[in-house]
Amino acid sequence: MDSPATASAQAKAAPRHIADPCVLVIFGASGDLTTRKLIPALTNLARDQLLPEEFAVVGFARSDFTDETIRQRLTQDAEKLGVNVEREAWKRIMQRVYYLCGAFDDAGAYQALAAKIDAAAKKHGTGGNRLHYLAVAPRFFGEIVRQIGAAGLAREDRGAWCRVIVEKPFGHDLDSARALDTEIKQIFNEPQIYRIDHYLGKETVQNLLMFRFGNSIFEPIWNRQYIDHVQITAAETVGVEHRGGYYETAGALRDMIPSHLFQLMSLTAMESPARLDADAMRDEEVKVLHAVQPFAPEHVVDAAVRGQYGAGTLADEQVPGYRDEPAVDPQSRTETYIALKLMIDNWRWAGTPFYLRTGKRMAQRVTEIAIVFKQPPFLLFRDTALSRFTPNELVLNIQPDEGISLRFGAKVPGTGMRQEAVKMEFCYNDYFDGSVTTTGYERLLHDCMIGDQTLFRRADMVEAAWRVIMPLIEAHQEPLTLAQYAAGSWGPQEADELMRRDERYWRNSDS
Ligand code: BG6
Repeated sequence: MDSPATASAQAKAAPRHIADPCVLVIFGASGDLTTRKLIPALTNLARDQLLPEEFAVVGFARSDFTDETIRQRLTQDAEKLGVNVEREAWKRIMQRVYYLCGAFDDAGAYQALAAKIDAAAKKHGTGGNRLHYLAVAPRFFGEIVRQIGAAGLAREDRGAWCRVIVEKPFGHDLDSARALDTEIKQIFNEPQIYRIDHYLGKETVQNLLMFRFGNSIFEPIWNRQYIDHVQITAAETVGVEHRGGYYETAGALRDMIPSHLFQLMSLTAMESPARLDADAMRDEEVKVLHAVQPFAPEHVVDAAVRGQYGAGTLADEQVPGYRDEPAVDPQSRTETYIALKLMIDNWRWAGTPFYLRTGKRMAQRVTEIAIVFKQPPFLLFRDTALSRFTPNELVLNIQPDEGISLRFGAKVPGTGMRQEAVKMEFCYNDYFDGSVTTTGYERLLHDCMIGDQTLFRRADMVEAAWRVIMPLIEAHQEPLTLAQYAAGSWGPQEADELMRRDERYWRNSDS
């Protein structure tokens, strides 16, 4: 086995591919995402020498800044937020940042934007490549894309490329997702559209592929014969923060399930693609979504639990309930928690449920995929105190303690036959240099700049995901039960009941 030092050296020696020269145009450049993620990610790419010299950023938004003042603002905000990046690289990026103030629906502003992009392209020698990033509220997506097209900013002249990155949520149901897709496709073709899901920027999510298809010992048992069920959890301790307005229109189901949680489910359940290319990968991912057994309207109540947090205690602090959060209706029926039971109708998974849950203000921040194995076929130890074993569990911890652990039963030393659960653990930080900070956006931005769509969602994946949850959305338009849970707990009791009915239980905390 490689020592941690060797593994780290191998990782560092991995081939590097410098991104293509381009101008990155950020729509909504004065917002949070730019300061917290995009500019720090570009800085980290510059630090790692993955950005070419021929590169510039042009920000476009309604706030009133100039080139100079946006640079100052970004730098001050980054300091305030404690964004941890290399100073030299930050300076190099700042020298390449430009800004234009304008309204997203003002055709004249797009003419000025075209001139600004041209000037930046000439100054930094980027050629004609352009990458448009829609870091704006979803209601602006259609308008901005139309204006980009009308201003000639989507053209791919003389071998140059032009791409667009669209943040989630992509629509708020199946019909709106289709309508948005049609609107975008009037200007851009599928190979130019990068629908981002930031979960795919996480190293541990990418490692899922490596874990499954780069090792041979797990694949033979990765199926319904050996696996009892799969649990995917994305629990957050934060509440809705300052996003009450958006969250009221989304809720936990739309906000997390068709994007992040389905992405984790697809990577866990998919077959091996024949090649590591964008379409081969995404073909396999989408097959999983197509195989999800549709929820029959009469079973929605049994297969899903919605909850909303009330006041409670987190980290010894009293926190308000959801209805008392800013910009939230005091009578709101929006769910901040959802748990689902899904069945995947294919030969690998038939009869093996996938339980998914996500919630805000939960007891602990943890995103993980737990593969829970079946009990041994007969109990050799039946005449002992053991009647049932702790099931074997393989847990892929996505965040915050990135790693993988395998739980199994061991005999407690002594004369009797007693079993206790023990764990074998792999922690990322023990093997790889944990001091190198990333935002999760580096790989995704870099992939767009080299034209690799593997980690981006194709239109059919977005549609398939909405199609799965439409019966739930439709059912929830009725005044269905909204279970309550206290902030700082593991969610509503009804979700425990969902598991108990199947004689299973959620893995809460580090059990
Ligand atoms: C976003 C959701 O997509 O993902 C947020 O809109 C959520 O509500 C966030 O908090 C979670 O991301 P992460 O990376 O913190 O798990």
